[in-house]
Amino acid sequence: MAQIMAARGYADVVLCDIVDGLPQGKALDIAEGAPWVGFSSKITGTNDWADTAGSDVVVVTSGVPRKPGMTREDLLGTNAGIVRSVIGNAVKASPNAVFVIFANPMDAMCHVALEAAGVPVARVVGQGGMLDSGRYRTFISMETGASVRDVAAWVLGGHTEATMVPIVSNASVGGVPLTSLLPADRLEAVVNRTKRGGAEIVDLLKTGSAFNAPAAATIEMVDAILLDEKRILPCCTLLQGQWGIKDAYVGAPVTLGAGGVEAIHEIPLSDSELAGMREAGTAVLELVAATPK
Ligand code: 2OP
Repeated sequence: MAQIMAARGYADVVLCDIVDGLPQGKALDIAEGAPWVGFSSKITGTNDWADTAGSDVVVVTSGVPRKPGMTREDLLGTNAGIVRSVIGNAVKASPNAVFVIFANPMDAMCHVALEAAGVPVARVVGQGGMLDSGRYRTFISMETGASVRDVAAWVLGGHTEATMVPIVSNASVGGVPLTSLLPADRLEAVVNRTKRGGAEIVDLLKTGSAFNAPAAATIEMVDAILLDEKRILPCCTLLQGQWGIKDAYVGAPVTLGAGGVEAIHEIPLSDSELAGMREAGTAVLELVAATPK
């Protein structure tokens, strides 16, 4: 993320981590590539939150990743403690920032972050649907042979295998409905592969989870916030009645701008998609209830 962000060239980047030397080393390594990549933004590494003061956007990636055989939900207790402490420090240094949460289980961590941050709900948004939509679009492209650039398809719901909702009803390639491009069995295979997208990478890497696609997906959100682009993107936000879901962080199409989540778009869904969204709402609230305080 830091590398992609620095290369955009319009914002300074601060990497903060508890491990002495790690953020400093990473930042220096990225900075030393700047003469060849060609950017002038500053990138620094630190163990001191004071160095992050006045940030416009804080991306929280802290927490442990999955190992093979683990679900994102298995990380609940460990990562809740980490996210609470990170958010507490981050908000002291940057009280006006938008906080993008990407520690797993992400949807539940948004609840933890919102409570710890004490900022308006629009300023705590989760990244999961962006990554999952990137995977969905990639698999649709692989299956249809069409360019990924023409694939318009979104994953809403939760960022867990059980609660992800790849939306078929409005997915299209260059305006052609996906349902008319793929037979039902291939479509189902694409949807299932999308839901297991994170696990597929974990199984291949064996010692950690995905890096590149999460980074690209997250920085797209950071762009939208920093540049006040008013993008409509699939992000995890606190639903307040949309689709009949209340007070639960669930992935939905939102307008993302300088204020964070500026609108939530309650689009029409098929019956099974609607049921999936509601299950995601119920599941995240169960996880929140099970989160150690
Ligand atoms: C993933 O899906 C790490 O949750 C992340 O790859």
